[in-house]
Amino acid sequence: MTAPLVAECALEAEHAAAPPSRRAGPCTMIIFGASGDLTRRKLIPALAHLDCDGLLDASFAVIGVGRSGNDGEFRRAMREAIDTAEEVRGTDPAARARFISRLRWVAGDLEDGATYRNLAECLRAIEGEHAHERGRLFYLAIPPSLYPDVIRRLSSSGLAPRVSDDRAAWVRIIIEKPFGHDEASARELDRLLNSAFSERQVFRIDHYLGKETVQNLLVLRFANSLFEPIWNRDHVEQVQITACESVGVEHRASYYEEAGVLRDMFQNHLLQLLTLTAMEPPNTFAADAVRNEKTKVLGAIRPITPELVPTVSAIGQYATGAIDGTPVRGYREEPGVSPTSRVPTFAALRLEVANWRWEGVPFFLRSGKRMPRRATEIAIRFRRPPHLMFPLRDREALEPNVLVIRIQPNEGISLRFEVKVPGVDVRLAPVRMLFSYADAFGTTSHSAYETLLLDCMLGDATLFTRADAVEAAWHVIDPVIEGWARLSGDIPTYEAGSWGPAAAHALIARDGARWREP
Ligand code: BG6
Repeated sequence: MTAPLVAECALEAEHAAAPPSRRAGPCTMIIFGASGDLTRRKLIPALAHLDCDGLLDASFAVIGVGRSGNDGEFRRAMREAIDTAEEVRGTDPAARARFISRLRWVAGDLEDGATYRNLAECLRAIEGEHAHERGRLFYLAIPPSLYPDVIRRLSSSGLAPRVSDDRAAWVRIIIEKPFGHDEASARELDRLLNSAFSERQVFRIDHYLGKETVQNLLVLRFANSLFEPIWNRDHVEQVQITACESVGVEHRASYYEEAGVLRDMFQNHLLQLLTLTAMEPPNTFAADAVRNEKTKVLGAIRPITPELVPTVSAIGQYATGAIDGTPVRGYREEPGVSPTSRVPTFAALRLEVANWRWEGVPFFLRSGKRMPRRATEIAIRFRRPPHLMFPLRDREALEPNVLVIRIQPNEGISLRFEVKVPGVDVRLAPVRMLFSYADAFGTTSHSAYETLLLDCMLGDATLFTRADAVEAAWHVIDPVIEGWARLSGDIPTYEAGSWGPAAAHALIARDGARWREP
C-alpha cells in the first residue's frame, strides 16, 4: 500500500486570542482528602492556573481538609506542586504567590464532629460579613466508603445546606468517581445525596468531559453541516473508541484491585465518549438538553446478558513485558496487588446502540494499562463505496474513509480518504487530512479540571454527569462485570507493551475488522 500523504488544515481566521467571557464570582472551595494525589497533581494546579488567568475572584480561597497538617505545610506542599505543574508554567510568580497565600488547612478526622466545627470556624474567618454573597464548593476527593458519613455530616452541621441554585451564597458538591460500585450502590448514594441536597447542587465529575477535544466533538458534529447527514448507519460501518495507557497500576493497587478496568474506565470515560458520539442533536446547549440526549443513548444500548459476555467482550491482565524497551513487571507483581489477582487491566467490548440512527453499527470500546503508548481516540469508519470503477492492483484493497477524533495526546482530527497518485496511471492512495490543535491554536488551553471547576463555580452542569446517566452506565457495565466474575478459570494475560490479549483481536475479527493502533 502507498504511504499516506499528509495535508494540513489552516485556521481561516484569528480566533485564538479571544478573551474568555466567563469568570467565577466570590467563593471558597473546600477539599476533603486534600493530602491525596488528586489535590496535588490536578486540583491545585488547575485552580492556580485559573487564578493566574484572572478567571477566579480576587477573594477566592481554598481550604484543604485532612487528618494532620497546618496552613504552612499545606502551602509548602502546594507551592511545590504548582512549580512543577505544566499548566502553570510561564505564569506570573507574584500571581502564584498570591494564590498560595489564599490556601488554608483544617486538620481533623472526617468522622469527628470537631473537624466540621473547625471547618465552620475557618469558613467564618474567610467569609466574614460577606457570607451571604459567597459560594461554597465542597470537593470530595476521598475514598467512596467515606462518602455517606461526610455527606451526612456536611448536611447536619449546616455547612452545606440545601439551597436554591440562584442564590449568591450557593452551595455545591463535587463527587469524584467511582460513583458507586454498581448500579445498586450508585442508586443508594443518589438517595443519600437527594436527602441532603437538590440535584442541581450535585456535580458528578468525569474529567474526560472537561477535555477540550471531547467538548469539540459536540462542535464538530453540531456546528458543521457536513458530518451530520452521514453520521448514521447508512454511512458508518463501525466506531472504535480507544483509551490506552502505557502506565501500569502505579501506586493505586488498593483502589484498582476493587475497580479493575471496567469500573475504572468503561463505566465512566468510555461510555461518555460513546454517548457524545452517538447522541442526537440537543435543541440547545443547556445542561439538561445535552444530558437528556446522552442518557437516551445509554438507555438504547442493547442489553448484554452475563451469558453473552464472552462473545461480546474480552478481558486481560498485563504480564511482564517492556514499554519503550524498558522491562516492566506484570500486574500481579505490582506492590499491593494480590499474586492471584483476577482483576482485568484491559477490556474490549462490542456494544450496539439499538435505535433508528445506529441499528447494526458495532461500537467497539477498548481500554488497557501497559499498552504500547498513551492514546485516546474515537475512530469513525465509513462504509466503502458500493461499486468501485477504478482497477486495484494486486493485493491492493480500498481503504475505507476514517474520521479520527484524537482526544490525546497530539489532540486533533484527521480524515483519511483516497486520492489519485500523480502519474499517467490511475492509481489510488490514502491520504490523511489533519487538523492539529497545537498547530492551529498553540498549546495553552485549559486542562480538563480547570474547565470543570470553573463550570461548577458558575453553576453550569452541562459537562457533569446526572444521576440517571450514572445509573444507566452501570446498567450497561454491571452484567459484563458479573459475566466475567461467573466464569471460572484464570484471566488471560497480555504482554506489557502489546496491544492486548488474543481474545480482543478475535472479538473484532468476528466483524471482519481489526483494531487500530493509534
Ligand atoms: C482515571 C483512571 O479516571 O483516568 C485512571 O482512574 C486513568 O486509571 C485515568 O489512568 C486516565 O486519565 P487521562 O486523562 O490520563 O486519560
